[in-house]
Amino acid sequence: MSSQTFIPFHLPSIGDEVVQEVEAALRSGWLTAGPRTAQFEKDFSAYVDSPYALALNSCTAGLHVALAALGIGKGDEVITTPLTFCSTVHTISHTGATPVLADVGVDGNIDPEAIERAITPRTRAIIPVHLAGLPCEMNAIWDKLYPAFQSEALPENPEGVEKLKQSVATLAAHPAKKT
Ligand SMILES: Cc1ncc(COP(=O)(O)O)c(C=O)c1O
Repeated sequence: MSSQTFIPFHLPSIGDEVVQEVEAALRSGWLTAGPRTAQFEKDFSAYVDSPYALALNSCTAGLHVALAALGIGKGDEVITTPLTFCSTVHTISHTGATPVLADVGVDGNIDPEAIERAITPRTRAIIPVHLAGLPCEMNAIWDKLYPAFQSEALPENPEGVEKLKQSVATLAAHPAKKT
């Protein structure tokens, strides 16, 4: 039975223009970050309307760079979901911070109320994962949690709210992730 006659499972959709771009990159003489990478970062930041965009080798690297850029480390807690790839938690541990898992809701994404319960004075960041292309309830996460974070974390951590307000996103060309 050929793959044409069977139900396709995770069949990638790769057009000719993508194949041509990959060939052009391979023939360009740049196997690491060259002018095409710089152009991609420029185009991407314009597309997502963000002042900054950084192309990295993996989502794991993106998560690590994001946490490092926010100055997260030993003594800090970072809330995330248990339903994710292991690198979400590994990168938190790698900074020296403590991962705190808040359970998922019926949609499989992190539950804003579970996040609210997990907030402590040591909370410095929340990493929601938009699993398999389904967005998390970001409005609830921002609207409900901001006051909760203020009342829990602000007294012991005056800079905490400012830090929590900083937002970094990692986006990978993989069907199962966006954080
Ligand atoms: C939710 C999630 N985060 C992070 C990663 C890690 O991505 P990468 O393999 O690009 O490092 C994956 C990989 O599947 C993932 O599903």
